[in-house]
Amino acid sequence: MNAIQLMIDEHKVIKRVLTVTRKLCIGILNGSPVHFDAFRDIIDFVRNYADKHHHGKEEDVLFKKMSEELGEKMANVTIFGMLAEHELGRLFILNLENALEKVKNGDQDAKVDIIANAIAYSDLLHRHIDKEDHAIYMYAQNKLSKESLERIDEKCRELENEAYNKKIQEKYLRLANKLENQTGQIYQ
Ligand SMILES: [Fe+2]
Ligand SMILES: [Fe+2]
Repeated sequence: MNAIQLMIDEHKVIKRVLTVTRKLCIGILNGSPVHFDAFRDIIDFVRNYADKHHHGKEEDVLFKKMSEELGEKMANVTIFGMLAEHELGRLFILNLENALEKVKNGDQDAKVDIIANAIAYSDLLHRHIDKEDHAIYMYAQNKLSKESLERIDEKCRELENEAYNKKIQEKYLRLANKLENQTGQIYQ
């Protein structure tokens, strides 16, 4: 298994859910009711697939190895920047969750906070994924030793197997399909 290729493929699934998120926000802007169930699924997907499953491999395996092997500048500037963006994403999702709760409780003005945080998250993640696909991952592929890349593949394989036993990949791929189908039906 090539861990970097696997993570690039995970980005594609994440981007599909970001597209759904944007469509839901445009719907709210155009006067549609807030689809609480779809947003609940998006938050579940973001926290457990994009963050725990995907960012977990970056933070605990790939970025960790890059920081150890490629020097202080890589650790302090590039990797720190990536980790800060993961953290900012978590804040946007927490804000989104709070805004959904407010709207559910009758605060219609909080719709603007749903849109603001969902779009901020989508834009952040699109830019973040672009940097990883075209710069960070390629740099890792070219600069890390063969042994380190093999070690990364091995650790990621273990994590993938653990997740597979919990049916994580299956559950969240199905959720991404469901979200696309739902929004496709709502917004033709
Ligand atoms: Fe990342
Ligand atoms: Fe990533």
